[in-house]
Amino acid sequence: MYRYAQKLHHLLWSLLLLALITATNAHAAEKIDLIIDTDPGADDVVALLFALASPEELNIRALTTVAGNVRLDKTSRNARLAREWAGREEVPVYAGAPKPMMRTPIYAENIHGKEGLSGVVVHEPKKGLDEGNAVNYLIDTLKSAKPHSITIAILGPQTNLALALIQAPEIVQGIKEVVIMGGAHFNGGNITPVAEFNLFADPHAAQVVLKSGVKLTYLPLDVTHKILTSEARLKQIAALNNNAGKLVGNILNEYVKGDMEHYGIPGGPVHDATVIAYLLKPELFTGRSVNVVVDSREGPTFGQTIVDWYDCLNAPKNAFWVESGDAQGFFDLLTQRLARLK
Ligand code: RIB
Ligand code: CA
Repeated sequence: MYRYAQKLHHLLWSLLLLALITATNAHAAEKIDLIIDTDPGADDVVALLFALASPEELNIRALTTVAGNVRLDKTSRNARLAREWAGREEVPVYAGAPKPMMRTPIYAENIHGKEGLSGVVVHEPKKGLDEGNAVNYLIDTLKSAKPHSITIAILGPQTNLALALIQAPEIVQGIKEVVIMGGAHFNGGNITPVAEFNLFADPHAAQVVLKSGVKLTYLPLDVTHKILTSEARLKQIAALNNNAGKLVGNILNEYVKGDMEHYGIPGGPVHDATVIAYLLKPELFTGRSVNVVVDSREGPTFGQTIVDWYDCLNAPKNAFWVESGDAQGFFDLLTQRLARLK
């Protein structure tokens, strides 16, 4: 009798172990192969810390940098800083386009500060840039990737991906989807009455990406302006009592001032971090497939995203447009991930 019970015990333990392994593998199989293209930038750095703290879901292949909020040397240094602060120096950083495709460059130092990261003291990170230009990295990686296997998150102007698509259109084969922070429809613009900064900074690049036919999701101001900081939410982050919580608290305290003043709102958006939350927990967000057109004509509508939300034109639906999200769910997830960092 005893031997029988022992055998049963052993069998039950083996079954439990097998179930655990299967569940872990199944979960691991859902990992997102991700390249983050970014112009850090205060909210970019929050997004990068968020993503780098989520290795179970995100296999970050590389960070690629672009000029945008500040010049390329500073966006590249800030991407390396975020990597260092997250303790993830194995992730390569490749510098990309130093200016937009066609228009004269614009920057947002008035919002992000001269160093592109107000609220904290920056330093020269230990680890340097990786060899090679980001555009070539995108071409080589996407050309040789398994079909539709790589997700690209674009947190700044879309110049790098656009240049890669122009040079090697066949790279679409390696792209699973492109998730973009940018654009505005219901909300109105933040750099002109109708244009959001990332699109205004390089509308021609956005047109190239739209025309490529890749699976596109936009997280515009329509959603980011519904996911705002508050005293309580910033306290939640500061209460983490780790370096990451302190950094993000100081960065956001400084960063949101501009929007709070401009819009007369009680808190500010953390634009780019919503892209990472969308990748980690899409169920926090709602939207619909729409036709989007980007205006690159000189004039008051330069950089505008024209969204056919009610399908008036019955035009092809070329993007998924996210227009709302669960603000507290976002901050709870962000805080929970930042808690994992030092
Ligand atoms: O309009 C907000 C966007 O412009 C964000 O990506 C911010 O970092 C700036 O690049
Ligand atoms: Ca950005």
